[in-house]
Amino acid sequence: MSILITLEGGDGSGKSTQSRLLSTALLGRGYNVTSLREPGGTNLGENLREILNDGQRHHAGLTDMSQLYLFLAARAQLVAERISPVLIEPNNVIICDRYIDSTVAYQGYGFGFDINFIKQANSNAIGDFVPNLTILIDCPIETSIARTISRTGKVSRFETKPNDFHQRVRNGFIELANENHDRWKIVDGTLDEKTLSKQILSLALEVIKGSDTNLQ
Ligand code: TYD
Repeated sequence: MSILITLEGGDGSGKSTQSRLLSTALLGRGYNVTSLREPGGTNLGENLREILNDGQRHHAGLTDMSQLYLFLAARAQLVAERISPVLIEPNNVIICDRYIDSTVAYQGYGFGFDINFIKQANSNAIGDFVPNLTILIDCPIETSIARTISRTGKVSRFETKPNDFHQRVRNGFIELANENHDRWKIVDGTLDEKTLSKQILSLALEVIKGSDTNLQ
């Protein structure tokens, strides 16, 4: 058996940094780690990522509905090309920066598309490849917004959305986590990077060591 760990949270929650730190820590302990991000991880996914993040230019007119289907298409491709071939082999760990729950939180709670429809579409896209562990890096939106403003480089399509959008996304993630405490663990995104990375590593190791894998 292999393990799929996903990290979720709002923009500026520190999720991408923590995904990287977790991958490095597990690699350092000798695990076979595959690091992925959504949207992305395949040629199609990386192309869709460009389109989805390009709100100011060629694809400014992309509708909310089109975005929903593009995220799902990127995910279906990621599962087919990168996740299922790794997870059907034994003794692997996949760390994925965003996955099914980002679509429920952003397109469902944020944009108002039907939550059950998204959950069903996610399930069609991923089949049996449900995460063994999902870590929610929860952060007050004031903190995450301040971080995205101070961050240099490209601003993603949703980073320019109003505060109430980000609040709905945050509440959505918390609601999802509370629906399934077996899969989800919530950590405090306001903690310093090192403390948080230690907590995340110990949550990951707990699941890896508790699984019926040869991963020790
Ligand atoms: P990204 O640059 O990856 O942001 P972050 O580093 O915060 O993850 O941009 C991805 C954006 O896409 C982010 O704002 C969240 C959004 N998103 C959705 O709206 N739905 C989805 O299903 C996924 C995977 C991401």
